[in-house]
Amino acid sequence: MVISVKTNKSVYYDIYSEFYNVNKFRELKSIMHHGDNRLNHINRVAKLSFNVSKFLKCDYISCTRGAMMHDFFTKEDLTKTNTKYNKFLKMHPTIALNNANKYFEINEIEEDAIKTHMYPITKEKPKYKESKIVCICDKLISFYEFFRFELGITYVFAYIFCVRVLI
Ligand SMILES: [Fe+2]
Ligand SMILES: [Fe+2]
Repeated sequence: MVISVKTNKSVYYDIYSEFYNVNKFRELKSIMHHGDNRLNHINRVAKLSFNVSKFLKCDYISCTRGAMMHDFFTKEDLTKTNTKYNKFLKMHPTIALNNANKYFEINEIEEDAIKTHMYPITKEKPKYKESKIVCICDKLISFYEFFRFELGITYVFAYIFCVRVLI
């Protein structure tokens, strides 16, 4: 009898491939986000959420799936919903949640992770451990991306700043 044990990497890419097979999701690759593209941002947040939730023995599949969909929106969605720049930070979780419901089957934890990832900018607090992980990982990654891509600070310096100074 052959027992195959999946590595963390292959479990992660199994989750990722469900999303990457959807055209609208792949469109995120062409949208700027924190000086990089939105798909790379999502991938970083989802990988970190996957590792943290596995380490904490949470529902890592829902946590990673929630992270995959947390910023699932395009420029067209913002135009369609008439979302102005000043409302963008508060509105985009709802737009991402509508898209998630339209393109994927989502559970309560994933819905909460998408809806509350901008807390405390939005009022509703994350209800589950998994959604709290997505909310924190999104902040850490956004901070890292801001320094690395927006300010152009090198990888090593950004790493030292984020890991050595802040944690
Ligand atoms: Fe977001
Ligand atoms: Fe994000």
